This record gives sequence, structure tokens and C-alpha cells, in this order.
Amino acid sequence: VKEGYGVKGMVDSGIAELPQRYIHPPHERIVRKEAIDALCYLAKPIDLSKLGREGGEEVARALCESAEKLGFFQVVNHGVPFELLESMKCATKRFFEMPVEKKAMYLRGKTPCPNVFYGTSFAPDKEVCLEWKDYLSMIYMNDEEALKYWPEQCRDVSLEYLKKCKAMISGILKGLLEGLGVGLEEGALEAYMEAKAVNLNYYPPCPNPELTVGVGRHSDLAALTVLLQDEIGGLYVKVDKGWIEISPVPGALVINVGDTLEILSNGRYKSAEHRVMASGSKERVSIPIFVSPRPHTMIGPLPGLVEDGKAVYGRLLFGEYMANYFGAGHQGKSSLDFARI
Ligand code: SIN
Ligand code: FE2
Repeated sequence: VKEGYGVKGMVDSGIAELPQRYIHPPHERIVRKEAIDALCYLAKPIDLSKLGREGGEEVARALCESAEKLGFFQVVNHGVPFELLESMKCATKRFFEMPVEKKAMYLRGKTPCPNVFYGTSFAPDKEVCLEWKDYLSMIYMNDEEALKYWPEQCRDVSLEYLKKCKAMISGILKGLLEGLGVGLEEGALEAYMEAKAVNLNYYPPCPNPELTVGVGRHSDLAALTVLLQDEIGGLYVKVDKGWIEISPVPGALVINVGDTLEILSNGRYKSAEHRVMASGSKERVSIPIFVSPRPHTMIGPLPGLVEDGKAVYGRLLFGEYMANYFGAGHQGKSSLDFARI
């Protein structure tokens, strides 16, 4: 890939065939018709309107059950206005439609702030086969930094989106952590959701989608991921018999458990393996918010969960876990081995 052009740049230049480096081995490719019926694994979207209010126990229970069973679920009545979801998708397209020279100003090493960067694939210098995706990553530190450095094409709407998601994120994470039944130390909930990043993902139409992947098999680093996907589809989650699709539901958000929460829960909540198929005819955008602790925060199974000595994961700094996670390409759930006892 020519620096800064990304996959979108290649498509815009008119390539007719998938370049060699994007061809994945047959066992990693995604076949749509192989995907199995989602209904036996995936509950219908969870209605969050009562979460944290009278009658909210049932909602919290549904969240915990989904986190244990699959590690993926969708939520509705989450408190984030529908128009804001639409605006986020538009802002994503607006950023990627800019001329290459403008996007390239945000490449790592050139970006005016290291917390904002534009890239392609997950870890291009570590991957044998590249992924069919470009992205802009905006790590949120404070409003001042965001206002100064985030691209104006998506800055204000992304900040508003983060703000509007905050209560939902804290409600879901609280419900999941309390559902472990061991109590929470003072400040623990806040510490596990202190750091946030918004990514704008852009998947251009692909000449041979059956030979490549939009994103390869992986589990997420964060405690929780809140994903807004558009109507195109292509997100698949691993279950015992194969892969199921998380089909787009208008107005819903997809929530998934990440490695950090699997570790905190000592393996009870599943950080599910997932991947994305590229589309042959249409562009697709998705916007994950990654909710994590800060690097200096210790992570490990919550104290009450391992009193009988059955710890599956050890204790380590989130920053150590993160460095290891970004030190390799996407390889299923192997990232978790780093924390395993
Ligand atoms: C990802 O899991 O990395 C992306 C999810 C998506 O685009 O749907
Ligand atoms: Fe992911």
C-alpha cells in the first residue's frame, strides 16, 4: 500500500483485482452461506430503558447472561439519539472522502497529536496478509486536546457521541460487574472505564471479497466495545459450530465483551472472537468506542472470584497487556494467553 492511500486510495485509483498481500489463506476466508442461524445463540436486542431504575434487575440479568453465553449482544433504548447515530456514520464518510493528502496529515509520525491517527489494516508491518480496512483512531484524553487535534470533519459529532454514550456505558459495565456477585471496590467501575477511544472504520467495496477479510479473527482489547454499524452487515462472531452474523438492526448498538472484562471476570464473561467480511459492491462504515482502564491500572480477576485459588488469569498492568496486544497481528483469541496463568 502506498503510504497514506489506504485501501480506499487503491479502489479510487481503479484497481480491478485484489492485490496479492490481501489474499488470505482459504481457512481464514469468510463464506457467507456457511454462516449459521444466529437465533439459537443471540437473544433479541436488549431494551435498556429500565437499566438502573425500578425493574432494572431483569435487564441486568439479561446483559450478564448474554455476556456469559456469547459475549456479544445488541441494545435498544440506550439513550443515544437516532440522529446522532446517523450523524456519526456521515462524519465517518466525510473524513474518508477527503483527498489523500489531507488524511495523510494524520498518519502516525506526522499527526500533530499521537492520540489521533489514520491507518490501514490492523498492524501492517506485522501482518503477512493485510486487512481490507482503513480507519481513524481518536483516543479521548480531554475535551481541550480533542477540540485542538481531532479532524474538524468529525470532531464535534464524535465528542457529542462519546458524551451521549457515557451513561449507557457505565450502566452496562456496572450491571455486568455487579452481576459477578462479589462486590466492587470503591472507584473500580470508574477505573475500568476511564479511557475511551472512538474509531471510525471505513471498508471500501472490494474487488474479490471472498479472498480477503475486512478484519481478521480477533478478540477486542478493551473492557467493553460499543459498536455502531451501518446497514451493510458482515460482522461475524464465533460460536461452537461456526460463525453467526450480527445482523444490523436500525437504531441498535452492538456491545461486546473485550479481553479486559474476560480477565476481570476470571473467564466468566466471554471476549468473543469475531471478524468482518468485506463487501463486494458497497462501502461499509462502523464506529467502535473502546472502553478501557488507563495503562497504569492493574487488571486481574476481581478479588472475590478467586478465593478458592481457581484463578484462570493473573494480575498485570493494563498497559503491559495493551503493549502485548498491539505487538502482533490479529490471531483469534491468542491475545489472552499473555494473561493466562
Ligand atoms: C472490529 O471488530 O474490529 C470491527 C467491527 C466491525 O467493523 O463491525
Ligand atoms: Fe473487534
